[in-house]
Amino acid sequence: MELLINQSSDPEPYWDMLLLADPSKAAVQQYLEDGKLYVAEWEDTVVGVFVLLQLDGPLWELKNIAVAEEWQGKGVGKALIAAAISSAKELGAENLEVGTGNSSTGQLAFYQKAGFRMQRIAKNYFTLNYNEPIFENGIQCRDMVILSMAL
Ligand code: COA
Repeated sequence: MELLINQSSDPEPYWDMLLLADPSKAAVQQYLEDGKLYVAEWEDTVVGVFVLLQLDGPLWELKNIAVAEEWQGKGVGKALIAAAISSAKELGAENLEVGTGNSSTGQLAFYQKAGFRMQRIAKNYFTLNYNEPIFENGIQCRDMVILSMAL
C-alpha cells in the first residue's frame, strides 16, 4: 500500500486518531512537544498517524500509531510501520522501541508481526500513571510491554 507521508506541526485535525492510541490527551500533548508527528494519506484521505520521539541518541520511540477506525484491518498499519521505520532511519535512529499494555493483545500481535521483539516490562506503569483502571479483552491493563527493533 503506497501512502503519502508528511510531517505536520499541527495536531488539531488529528486528535480523533491520536486518542485512539493513547486515551490521555495531556500525555499526547506532552510528547508532541518534542516528538515528530507524521500524517499518512491514501488518495487525499488521511488514514493514519504516527509520532516518533528521540529518547537517547540513536534510540527512538514510536510513541503513537493509529489508523482511522474505518481503515483498520486493511494493511494501513503495516504500511505505517514501514513508513515509521524509514522516517526513523532518516532521523539517525538505530533502534526503535514501542510500548503497549499487557492487555493489548491485538497490538502485541500487530507489533510482533511487524518484526518487533519483546524487550522489557515496565511493571505497574498503567496503574501508577492513569487515574482510571483500564480493562481490555477482560484483562486489567497494569504493565507496559516494551518491544524493540534494531533498524
Ligand atoms: N489482532 C491480531 N492481529 C492484528 C490485529 C489485532 N487486533 N491488528 C492487526 N493485526 C495484524 C493483522 O492481522 C496483520 O497481519 P498479517 O501481516 O499477517 O496480515 C498485521 O497485524 C497488520 O495489520 P493491519 O491491517 O496493517 O493493521 P491496522 O491497519 O488495523 O493497524 C493498529 C493496526 C493497531 C495500528 C490499528 O488497529 C489501530 O489504529 N488501533 C487503534 C490505535 C492503537 O491501538 N494503536 C496502538 C497503541 S499501542
